[in-house]
Amino acid sequence: ASADKGLKDYYQKDFYVGAALNYRQISGRDAKATALIKEQFNTISPENLLKWEAVHPQPDTYNFKPADDYVAFGQQNKMWVIGHTLMWHQQTPKWVFEDATGKPASREMVLKRLEDHISTVVGRYKGKIAGWDVLNEAIDDQQGDLRKTKWLEIIGEDFAAKAFEFAHKADPKAQLYYNDYSLYRPEKRAGVIKLVKSLQARGIKVAAIGMQGHYGLTKPSIEQVEASIVAFAKLGVHVNFTELDIDVLPNPSHRQGADIAETFGADAKYNVYTTGLPDSVQQQLTKRYADLFALFHKHRDVIGRITLWGVTDADSWLNDWPIKGRTSYPLLFDRNFQPKPAFKAVVQAA
Ligand code: XIL
Repeated sequence: ASADKGLKDYYQKDFYVGAALNYRQISGRDAKATALIKEQFNTISPENLLKWEAVHPQPDTYNFKPADDYVAFGQQNKMWVIGHTLMWHQQTPKWVFEDATGKPASREMVLKRLEDHISTVVGRYKGKIAGWDVLNEAIDDQQGDLRKTKWLEIIGEDFAAKAFEFAHKADPKAQLYYNDYSLYRPEKRAGVIKLVKSLQARGIKVAAIGMQGHYGLTKPSIEQVEASIVAFAKLGVHVNFTELDIDVLPNPSHRQGADIAETFGADAKYNVYTTGLPDSVQQQLTKRYADLFALFHKHRDVIGRITLWGVTDADSWLNDWPIKGRTSYPLLFDRNFQPKPAFKAVVQAA
């Protein structure tokens, strides 16, 4: 084992601590990762295997084996098992929005498909999946309006309410979440508050708002993140950090507007640390995790869980996004399953 105690133990009185898992880690083909997961985490999220395209690729085809194994793994290890995600504009098959001739499907048809999907998937794991990301990324990046997706276009403005109502019907005891990125931005924060209030006005219980937490080394500021925690808590919901990672590489689609040139120089390539992370950057990363976990600890009364988006740097999506072939270092464990300096900082923040 790489550490004598797990993050779950250090933060036991505060919140759950977890990671997003891929199928290799669940099926035992990545035994070192599996051991680390059991040692460190008490909540798990499915990185991809419960997304619509994965679990329900064709109208009459469900692919439950990976999801069944994921849920069983969580249950065997007494973990808080998360479902991700029921309604999203990505990783959802085209057929969901089309009729038999390839034209846009009607509102009735899409609602029927949504209800079938949710009742089947949520119903299958009733009492086993503790909380669901019902709706993912429905607020746009500009003014905080509803994102222009097929869900909105075809169903209309009550698409979100419908998804939450179907999920509640399928498992009345499961926690239901709204999940999104860049929620530290004032426009987006306001958009989510408006959306959640409209759901609450319909009698829907939103258990928590999930702040994904795909952050950079310096942006957003701790103050920006804190402002959203405080604002969301006023809605009477919990706040979770659901996809935490810190990208140390220049990001060509940085949502704050390109700060690449500023940080790395005008000619920066997007993959600058292929042979290892320089000490100075390692220290920045460590400080960043320390500051974030100090913030989380401060707000432990409203925070339900912190989930990292991956276990080791090797399996992070940030090696492939926003462009393929990067070598990124966003997590707490390195490519040899060893705790990084940031791990110790996180422990000390508890
Ligand atoms: C990512 C996965 O990590 C990748 O493996 C996949 O190719 C694309 O999706 N926001 C989310 C997550 O809610 O589901 C995304 O996960 C990352 C961004």
